[in-house]
Amino acid sequence: MRIALASGDGIGPEIMAATLDLFRAAGVDRHVEFVPVEMGKSVFEKGNTRGMTDEAVRVVEDCGLLFKGPMETPKGGGGKSINVTARKIWSAFANYRHFRSLPGVKTPFSHLDLDFAIVRENVEDTYGGIEHRMSDDVTVCKRVISAPGSDEVMRFAFEAARRSGITLVHCGHKANIMKLTDGMFLERFKAIAAGYPEITTGDVIVDALCMNLVMKPKQYRMVILPNLQGDIVSDLAAGLVGGLGFAPSANIGSNISIFEAVHGTAPDIAGKGIANPTALVLSGLMMLRHIGLVRHAAAIENALLSALEGGVRTGDFGDPQRPVLGTADFIKGIAARLGSEPRTVKPAAVPAGGADAVTARPPVRPAGPVVMHTFTGLRKEIVGVDMYLDGKLSAAATAAMLERTCEGSPFRLSLISCRGTQVWPRGSVFTECVDYWRARFEVRDGATVGQQEAVQLVGKVAQEHVVTEYALLRTFDGVRGFSMAQGQ
Ligand code: NAI
Repeated sequence: MRIALASGDGIGPEIMAATLDLFRAAGVDRHVEFVPVEMGKSVFEKGNTRGMTDEAVRVVEDCGLLFKGPMETPKGGGGKSINVTARKIWSAFANYRHFRSLPGVKTPFSHLDLDFAIVRENVEDTYGGIEHRMSDDVTVCKRVISAPGSDEVMRFAFEAARRSGITLVHCGHKANIMKLTDGMFLERFKAIAAGYPEITTGDVIVDALCMNLVMKPKQYRMVILPNLQGDIVSDLAAGLVGGLGFAPSANIGSNISIFEAVHGTAPDIAGKGIANPTALVLSGLMMLRHIGLVRHAAAIENALLSALEGGVRTGDFGDPQRPVLGTADFIKGIAARLGSEPRTVKPAAVPAGGADAVTARPPVRPAGPVVMHTFTGLRKEIVGVDMYLDGKLSAAATAAMLERTCEGSPFRLSLISCRGTQVWPRGSVFTECVDYWRARFEVRDGATVGQQEAVQLVGKVAQEHVVTEYALLRTFDGVRGFSMAQGQ
């Protein structure tokens, strides 16, 4: 099996070299060939804004697996994070993070012996980075949540739960506020959960989830979250078990999966040989299990647990009475314990029927782009159009102009809102407004319209106003596909 290998920037090369030493000592390279690829800072510096060479892309797509160190995102200049790019272009739709209390890693929560997982949707949400400046004073980011995208991450999570014997799965969300986007995420959670009757499910609003994770973390075994909320909650969870040095992650896709530590390039300690490689080792163990090397993974994990238990540590954690080791010596301390098992915590076990050979296969290149569907053939009816206007006039003055504009058309102006709050025809004089308005036009009683009439109205409004964006208001099988304004 070939695995593409990108060591990363900053502390990346140090922790990657150490991790591979440990894997070699455990015999992993008898089953796996690591193929180096060029990604990250050195590629950005050559003016390649994607941060990866074409050859790197080809190798990753041929292998289907990428083991990567942290990579620096160029600051400013519009350069996108290579880490997010990799997850998105290769559709690594589920970010799986496993959190457990480790021996020798003291936190205020260590005594609880935590063991839980966060599955974060990894491709959609605000991470599309679809952002626009709409007016002098307003910027906007589009949040995309799709039914097939949600279904994929839900299915992955429930399958992972079933495989690991997890019988309690929650969905974290904010569907009380974002009724359509988070509402769809939660609805798909419930729909997919129905196929796993042996698993108990629940849902929790994300702010309450954060509090519960600090107050009573043991009540969760697996939580599935949309991208941004999952990003934040999973760092909170990392804090419960010892911080970034101990937070591994797997970015799982149908064809290509990426394994990396959660932390960044740690520029403050790069080149000093003192970084903690544990998170990368743990990410590598997720990868070994993913490809079927479950015995190797268990042996390395038990050596790591036994070393941590014995006080082997880098400078960022552990018993201050024990000597601080550099990255390479820390790994030697683990390698020396291969074949041992921890005494104070449950050793890693090989699941019944677990293989000791690679079972994963490289991906088959699809003939063209893959288009996914969850729903097809819903009956869609246009009931109005929202237009977003960049303007300095008051809501009342704007409304007077817009009402004149739509006279004689099949639409009537039904509301104006600012920052989501209705300010016309009703509102409060205390509502503070900015220079970006949403004008909602609804189809007059008895009229039927198509997209053509809606676009004609946009054209008419644009003669007097700057229309930065419009959105059709539609029903889907009779269900409203747009939100109400606050105060409506
Ligand atoms: P960071 O995670 O690199 O560092 C935060 C703090 O944690 C620093 O004090 C650092 O020394 C410490 N730290 C991190 N990993 C450590 C380790 N293994 N051992 C010991 N101490 C460790 O976060 P920061 O400073 O916000 O980001 C630095 C760069 O990394 C940025 O360019 C950022 O874009 C990139 N980054 C890359 C990621 C990736 O490749 N997946 C993830 C996060 C950030």
